[in-house]
Amino acid sequence: MMKPQKYYIETYGCQMNEADSEIVAGMLERATYQATREPEEADIILVNTCSVRQGADNRALSRLSQFKSLKKNNPNLLLGMIGCVAQRDRGKIIEERPFIDFVLGPDAYRRIPEIVANKKRQVIDVQLSRTEVYDGLMPFRNSVVNAWISIMRGCNKFCSYCIVPYTRGRERSRSVASIVEEINAAIAEGYQEITLLGQNVNSYRYNDIRFHDLLKIIAEIKGVRRIRFTSPHPEDVNTEMLEVMRDYDNICKHIHLPLQSGSTKVLADMNRSYSKERYLEFVDNIRHILPGCGITTDIIVGFPGETEADFQETLCVMDKVVFDNAYMFKYSPRPYTAAAKMKDDVPEAEKAERLNQVIAKQKIHTKQRNRSLIGTVQSVLIDGHSKKNPNEKIGRTDSNKLVILKEDHADIGDFIDILITGTAGVSLFGKINKP
Ligand code: 5AD
Ligand code: SF4
Repeated sequence: MMKPQKYYIETYGCQMNEADSEIVAGMLERATYQATREPEEADIILVNTCSVRQGADNRALSRLSQFKSLKKNNPNLLLGMIGCVAQRDRGKIIEERPFIDFVLGPDAYRRIPEIVANKKRQVIDVQLSRTEVYDGLMPFRNSVVNAWISIMRGCNKFCSYCIVPYTRGRERSRSVASIVEEINAAIAEGYQEITLLGQNVNSYRYNDIRFHDLLKIIAEIKGVRRIRFTSPHPEDVNTEMLEVMRDYDNICKHIHLPLQSGSTKVLADMNRSYSKERYLEFVDNIRHILPGCGITTDIIVGFPGETEADFQETLCVMDKVVFDNAYMFKYSPRPYTAAAKMKDDVPEAEKAERLNQVIAKQKIHTKQRNRSLIGTVQSVLIDGHSKKNPNEKIGRTDSNKLVILKEDHADIGDFIDILITGTAGVSLFGKINKP
């Protein structure tokens, strides 16, 4: 019998890329390929790339160059670059790195089984679609508790710094029927948590069904213990959505609300469509309808033209909101975007200094928010082992905080009430609550 062929996938960037890699893995598994964690063993290596900032971009390219040497021992090895950098750089990639065999953009993955079966080389497919392209394909999931479900793709917002509309194309939403079918299949396989994904998840619209209608439909599916979603655009976080979240216990009370900047002037230059004041109103609305809801954010420092006074406005919004957590970035010019034509005039040292300041502030706020939970009982879904100590289990609260359980009396997949006893960094410690 022939030895089964093995595939290895390495994924960079956002959760959408993680979910796409699971869809690709599903196709390869159905074509009888086997997953491996060792690139040295693989017959097919795929690198799913991210172009949102220069850092991830560079890392993926250097990994691909490392994999080149594996071709010496295995001349049949196929090396594919997929994802957003593939979409952006297209033919140039193979011109500059002829050892890469195929380049596929995010809407071209259905071609993978055919390419690998026929050992095709020099394939470039970066056609973007106006409709959902992966309907009906069941992913091969990596997690045991959480199932990613992509409900929409693409973005029409064109924030001036962001490359996503160019690499992922226009917004399109998947049919309700196919979303429900995939969720039912995930529940039948034992998944308890569903995370809905989309570049602008709450811009979902399929015929008359809007995001809050879809949330309601999913919350009523039997066996769905928890629903999360990411990433929403603040402009689409409306009262209807918040009310559905309030009315269903199985919709997690956590909203990722990307601020980007606290300066109304910078926000206008970023084409973000809201002012500082309006952002604070969004937060008030969330806190009013969903008291205790976790709010996290994304912040960019050093956008073109950001003055010290603009930056102070960002710090001021952080102080007003006290986010539970934040992803913070230095502005990085991206090709094709409107901001790339503006002068990148904040010096690198200043960007680094501003980044340090937001990180330091966020640390204090995270601590403050986490400390306020000491002594409370949180419902936690156990989803893995602690990396530092395999005897400790980890899980997440409803508001998406990581909890480390010191004792070992819980199994992965258990839903338990945990008494929060302490905090460290972004995590909480706790013990099983015995009333
Ligand atoms: N530079 C820095 N950060 C960026 N992001 C997106 N584009 C850029 C860029 N050009 C950040 C935003 C976004 C997150 C996913 O990545 O904060 O919300
Ligand atoms: Fe990028 Fe803005 Fe679209 Fe988010 S909403 S993907 S930041 S263009």
